[in-house]
Amino acid sequence: MNPNLITIDLDAIQHNFGTLRELAGESALICVVKSDGYGHGLLSVAGALSDAGAKWFAVAHLEELVSLRNASFEQRILILPGIMPSEAAMAVENDATVALYRADVAHALSEVAMRLGRLARCHIKIDTGMSRLGVLPHEFHDFLEEVRVLPGLAITGAFSHFAVADVPGQRKTTEQFAAFADVVQAEAERLPELHIANTGGILGQCCCGLPLARAGIGLYGTPPADGWECADMLRPAMRFSSSLLSVKTIPAGATVSYGATHLCANETRVGVVPVGYDDGYPRSQPGGGVMLVRGRRVPVLGRVCMNLTMVDLSEAPDAEPGDEVVVLGRQGDESILVSELARRAGVITYEILCALGKQNPREMCAQI
Ligand SMILES: Cc1ncc(COP(=O)(O)O)c(C=O)c1O
Repeated sequence: MNPNLITIDLDAIQHNFGTLRELAGESALICVVKSDGYGHGLLSVAGALSDAGAKWFAVAHLEELVSLRNASFEQRILILPGIMPSEAAMAVENDATVALYRADVAHALSEVAMRLGRLARCHIKIDTGMSRLGVLPHEFHDFLEEVRVLPGLAITGAFSHFAVADVPGQRKTTEQFAAFADVVQAEAERLPELHIANTGGILGQCCCGLPLARAGIGLYGTPPADGWECADMLRPAMRFSSSLLSVKTIPAGATVSYGATHLCANETRVGVVPVGYDDGYPRSQPGGGVMLVRGRRVPVLGRVCMNLTMVDLSEAPDAEPGDEVVVLGRQGDESILVSELARRAGVITYEILCALGKQNPREMCAQI
């Protein structure tokens, strides 16, 4: 039996929703549950958020929206990257709110909406500095006039996305907000659903009184990057545990793992953990990795393999095969936060959560 287990704390997700909602002030939260709820499980996360009062979700694909509708979620659901014209029928049938920045998509949505006798809801996406999706600020008014006249389209909002809001106090964030406010101000009455802030924006109080704000990573218990003092207000929602597959003592002078990069200066008690890069555990951790055994931090020895990782059990000399190993989360008085794991691997927390959550068996619980 696979001993690897991701445990998701749905209480923590509800707690984080409440915390972010307070920080967002007047702005209601659009809960970003894309990419399988950042690896935490789309439907379970949406259920917990719905119970906590969420009125909006945001997803990355039409398929995610259809999964939510099939599970009877009635919230408004924004498809953040928009859709292809060929997806218009499915979007309208499933009452999507589509990020809109292409005229051909607007025409396709209008045609379908008229045929089905339904409304095609849209938020116009404005590119204020990400250079990713959206019409440029100077194109906004012409685009709005072009699509607004199309029958069946309900253009109820507009949004943009911050590029550097994960770092507190950046001038570019203020500039992006100003550019957004500048073009939407005159339309605020006809476009009541305006939003720009992500988690960084919410933590940095950059929702700026807009009616909506999009919360992603914060819901899952971590700020978007290091350096946020209010990080303690969030509760980690993911724990990843395994168990020791083998324990043995190797002699001084032995090397560990591929490449023989680790040379044991002394006799060493080595534990083998059935977790590797195929399970989403980062292979590259230049300063070394760490796991928890018997409530102690035990360093990773040598290279992480595809399905196995070796740890030095000197700090947990009584450890035995079958003992729990914590890769992410708390064990006893010790814990490994996703921010630590991300820092060790030189990646962002988002990558770690998505990869671990996607590649391991998952169990939901009320508290971890
Ligand atoms: C358009 C958009 N809005 C909101 C979010 C949520 O951002 P965060 O997870 O930093 O809150 C994302 C995340 O990638 C995004 O792409």
